[in-house]
Amino acid sequence: MLNDAIEKVLVSEEELKEKVTSLGQQITKDYAGKNLLMVSVLKGSVIFMADLMRAIDLPCTIDFMCVSSYGSGTKSSGVVKIIKDLDIDLHGKDLLIVEDILDSGKTLHYITKMLSDRGTASIRIATLLDKPERRTAPLTPDYSGFVIPDEFVVGYGLDYDEKYRNLPYIGVLKPEIYGGK
Ligand code: IMP
Ligand code: MG
Repeated sequence: MLNDAIEKVLVSEEELKEKVTSLGQQITKDYAGKNLLMVSVLKGSVIFMADLMRAIDLPCTIDFMCVSSYGSGTKSSGVVKIIKDLDIDLHGKDLLIVEDILDSGKTLHYITKMLSDRGTASIRIATLLDKPERRTAPLTPDYSGFVIPDEFVVGYGLDYDEKYRNLPYIGVLKPEIYGGK
């Protein structure tokens, strides 16, 4: 079973649900009267995006972009490659970038800089998970679900080598799965 690869559950399904609801309420307050465009960074944020957008009680548009910052390992390569760019014109839009996890911050630092040159009214970041210990880029999320320790996590969209995204909770992989210490 998929569960067998998990050492421990870090954030349960119930905790995820509660947090997403409260983030949605906060965003609903903050974006009233604005031109909200939610941008999901594929693939890790799809589940968070799908749940968060339904917790927001405002008209909004969505778009997706795909970047790659990791290969099949667990450490950042430092290289951000745009695999799929946004389709929507960003002029006057209040962008909310939806991310699964803020680790070194290199990926989002690059993306926010690139998108802010396209006539956006504002850009904010909503991340489900935050690993501040590992930050090397100057970036603080505007909305953050859970601050977690420096451990490699999977589930609720997050993968290891493209697997485990469909776990309904956030868990820590057994070290033997990725050959770690
Ligand atoms: P950053 O540029 O180092 O902030 O990398 C962020 C991206 O790395 C995230 O969007 C994830 O795709 C991936 N990532 C970082 N930490 C983890 C983790 O613990 N589990 C799974 N993916 C991770
Ligand atoms: Mg990601």
